[in-house]
Amino acid sequence: MQDSQTLDLLRVDRPIIQGPFGGGLSTVELVSTVSNLGGLGSFGVHYLEPDGIVRIATEIREKTDRSFALNLWVSDHDPEANDFSPEAYEAAWRIFEPLYQELGIEKPEQPQRFHPSFDDQIEAILETRPHVFSFVFGIPSKRILDACKVKGITTVGAATTLAEAQALEDAGVDVILSTGFEAGGHRPSFLERAEDSLMGTLPLTRLIASECSRPVIAAGGIVDAQGVEAALSLGAGAAQLGTAFLACDESGTVDQHRSALFSNQSANSQLTRAYTGRLARGMPNRLIKAMTSSGHRLPPFPVQAWFVAPLRAASIEAGDDDFISLYANQAAPLLKRTKAADLMADLTSRLA
Ligand SMILES: Cc1cc2nc3c(=O)[nH]c(=O)nc-3n(C[C@H](O)[C@H](O)[C@H](O)COP(=O)(O)O)c2cc1C
Repeated sequence: MQDSQTLDLLRVDRPIIQGPFGGGLSTVELVSTVSNLGGLGSFGVHYLEPDGIVRIATEIREKTDRSFALNLWVSDHDPEANDFSPEAYEAAWRIFEPLYQELGIEKPEQPQRFHPSFDDQIEAILETRPHVFSFVFGIPSKRILDACKVKGITTVGAATTLAEAQALEDAGVDVILSTGFEAGGHRPSFLERAEDSLMGTLPLTRLIASECSRPVIAAGGIVDAQGVEAALSLGAGAAQLGTAFLACDESGTVDQHRSALFSNQSANSQLTRAYTGRLARGMPNRLIKAMTSSGHRLPPFPVQAWFVAPLRAASIEAGDDDFISLYANQAAPLLKRTKAADLMADLTSRLA
């Protein structure tokens, strides 16, 4: 069953959304390929300053005149990361010092800010007017949601519990993303701790579809046509896939990460705060082991992500996957496709 309300709001022909990736893993090529095939390509821009966001939107428009989404993280710092003290910085450094020393990386100076500000970024979104603005980790203010309405930008907000979905609906968000804990990437909870919001895609989507009046997109553990069909039969108007598109050649991830997705390593994904300080799902590797065995409480988001970034760069240079955040969902062992167009053909093969 295809639901025209969701397709109309997203301005797409097919109920397939390529989920956004932050951290440079989204690419213009992947977004435009999916949008040109009638789905919704999404670019995660939370790590960019406003001028970078404007540049990405221009580059996407050079490759497609179809609908696409830009995506932000509403909460750009955990509360403990605001006014991060020099003492807290030193405590965080002690966790990373042995790894930096091993890899020959100098101790970095504490920066003024660890991450761009959502308040600045949102102005770039409003200026560039993507067809769809999707967001995670909270609800933008009424001023922002009203401005999106005036500018004809469809808003999509992520929920990890029914209470979050109801809060998004009450705020006037157009479409609700139901994201189950099977998903690769972050658990974008904003009312309760992520660890206390571990709903699976099946019950969460069914609950939101039956209790909320806004259209629902299902995400988490969907990698093939059967998964899409299941999402639609739960009452979702579309399915959003992250890991399956990340595995495609057009994504911005590195070969080590893709190889791991197609290996036995992908059978054991786990939830961890090791990548960024916020709870996320990925495959076990040395980074997770080192953080777990450090015996210290990890710093909050985005401080943890900031300290991990040079380790990732060193791993990429060395050609290993020791310190790469190996994001993956629970269904990764089912992955088959390495081209976005082939994946799109597969995903739509059971649709009317
Ligand atoms: C590497 C990676 C990065 C992601 N970054 C973001 C992001 O910045 N913003 C966002 O809304 N979702 C992000 N997601 C979530 C995806 O867009 C998508 O909702 C999720 O991966 C769906 O679950 P699946 O991996 O089981 O398909 C990310 C997912 C992955 C795997």
